[in-house]
Amino acid sequence: MKKNILITGSTDGIGKIAAMMFAKEGHTVLIHGRNKVKLSETLSEIKLKTNNENVQGFVADFSDLDSVKQMAEQIKQEISKIDILINNAGVYNSPDSDNKDGLDIRLTVNYLAPYLLTNDLLPLLEKGFESRIINLASAAQSPVSIDVLLGKVKKNQGETYAQSKLALSMWSFWLARSLQNISVIAVNPGSLLNTKMANEAFGTHWAPAEKGANIIYDLAISEEHKSITGKYFDNDSGAFANAHPDAYNEATINKLIEVTESIIN
Ligand SMILES: NC(=O)c1ccc[n+]([C@@H]2O[C@H](COP(=O)([O-])OP(=O)(O)OC[C@H]3O[C@@H](n4cnc5c(N)ncnc54)[C@H](OP(=O)(O)O)[C@@H]3O)[C@@H](O)[C@H]2O)c1
Repeated sequence: MKKNILITGSTDGIGKIAAMMFAKEGHTVLIHGRNKVKLSETLSEIKLKTNNENVQGFVADFSDLDSVKQMAEQIKQEISKIDILINNAGVYNSPDSDNKDGLDIRLTVNYLAPYLLTNDLLPLLEKGFESRIINLASAAQSPVSIDVLLGKVKKNQGETYAQSKLALSMWSFWLARSLQNISVIAVNPGSLLNTKMANEAFGTHWAPAEKGANIIYDLAISEEHKSITGKYFDNDSGAFANAHPDAYNEATINKLIEVTESIIN
């Protein structure tokens, strides 16, 4: 069955490879990027290589929550339903550490933006068939400091990246509990995959980017995973595993959601 699949951050890395895989199979693929020119080039490349015209592009800078909101509105106007949402866009190295509102770039792009986008697109996911949300987490997970999330305290990029990724898993589990017909999975696609992010941040890689794209594809489409929700898949071990203990701490999660809502609103 052909699906409507939205994958953020699909102008590069594992998101682009996964978008290509979905398009090859004839699904309707909604790609996203922050740079109009790069997005348009990616769109043309995917259409050409897959012979699939049902590929559409959306642009938004995820470090700007207003831009995320606008993109969600545009999608709601142009698309009738979403079966699969893959929150893949992410950043580690960046020239600026804060966005225009004084919020940390990594916490904004990697956690607040997908949180906002997903909430806004829930009505479309409700209309999807066996809808799934796949959130790109990481083996890097560090307890979330509320003061860092609020932009009151600054930390280095490795620390805020790890906080953003644990926040994403904590919210994924909370969201899974609150949704009846939509499954939510957090996934570490594999550490140090051969992408721009890993090469820029660490100057090296351990595994091909395809390793990450393949697990995204599998979790998003396979029958085997269709009813699994509220779990963390660790692609370093190749199995479902426990995330950081904070992802199972109700009080900590509730505090995170309360503060996130205050920022978003
Ligand atoms: N690579 C790894 O080893 C690894 C390990 C664990 C988790 N992950 C996670 O996997 C996901 C994909 O990573 P990747 O390795 O494929 O990285 P990548 O090659 O750097 O691709 C990241 C994607 O996110 C987009 N992006 C970055 N900042 C953005 C912003 N401000 N607004 C909108 N889009 C933005 C990029 O756009 P541009 O094309 O314009 O740069 C690109 O499309 C990320 O969430 C990452 O944290 C990766």
